[in-house]
Amino acid sequence: MSASGFRLRALPLLVRLGLSGVLAALALGLWASLEHVREHHQARDGSPGVSREDLLGAYHGVSVPAPLVTALERGHPEGLPAAERAELLAWLRGPELSQRYDDPDLGERAPAELIGAACLQCHARRATDGSGIGEQVPLEYWDDVAKQAQAKELVATPRAILVTSTHTHALALGTLSALLCALVWATRFGRLRELAIAAQGLALAADLASWWLVRESASWLWLLIGAGALYAASTALAIVLVFAELWLPRRD
Ligand code: HEC
Repeated sequence: MSASGFRLRALPLLVRLGLSGVLAALALGLWASLEHVREHHQARDGSPGVSREDLLGAYHGVSVPAPLVTALERGHPEGLPAAERAELLAWLRGPELSQRYDDPDLGERAPAELIGAACLQCHARRATDGSGIGEQVPLEYWDDVAKQAQAKELVATPRAILVTSTHTHALALGTLSALLCALVWATRFGRLRELAIAAQGLALAADLASWWLVRESASWLWLLIGAGALYAASTALAIVLVFAELWLPRRD
């Protein structure tokens, strides 16, 4: 006797088929929402994949330093004399990048000249060195360099949109989870089913709360990632448990 007194396995075949269809739709919805996170957030910091920067950018706002500054600061390229590294960094950190890029007064010390001499052996489109980096990150012309020289301010989602998003997600996911939890409770999986229900409910509350906490302080990002992952995983588990209950042989 299942705890709820409601026995999924005893339902008529057509009803179990129908419920299986609903579960398949939920699984598809779960996949689509993970895909949405990837597509919607990944490109923010300009590099592929959903990174810490991407998520912080969306939920908190963050400044991503210019790739040129990051590269030079971490000691790339190795052979660059310290004086030239310092000159390039001073240029990148100063005002009016484009005017000073090929300032004729600077002669051979102009950034365009330094880059030409120190970088283009690898960072030109047809460069033979640098295993193809010249195609991905060319530094031949000002337009190329400008893209790598800009720091980016990622601005958090406006408050009004976050309110709307919390409103729709809380009501839709809350309803969905309540239904799914009721179905999971009607399965045979004892302790596991309790865990799936606990994880789903707590993760959903924590996930929605984390959107607002991260907005206040970036230090909550772990909660956003952790609760989001736990909610997705426990929803997937719930779908699997209910599906198994519908189709495994009867127990009596
Ligand atoms: C010997 C070849 C070589 C030279 C010379 C070279 N690079 Fe690179 N660069 C690479 C390779 C390979 C990568 C990709 C791997 C990596 O990031 O280290 C790269 C990556 C970069 C990146 C991308 C970093 C990122 O993660 O977004 C920047 C920016 C960059 N280089 C700037 C420069 C600048 C500025 C110079 C000249 C001062 C320079 N590089 C000289 C080979 C070179």
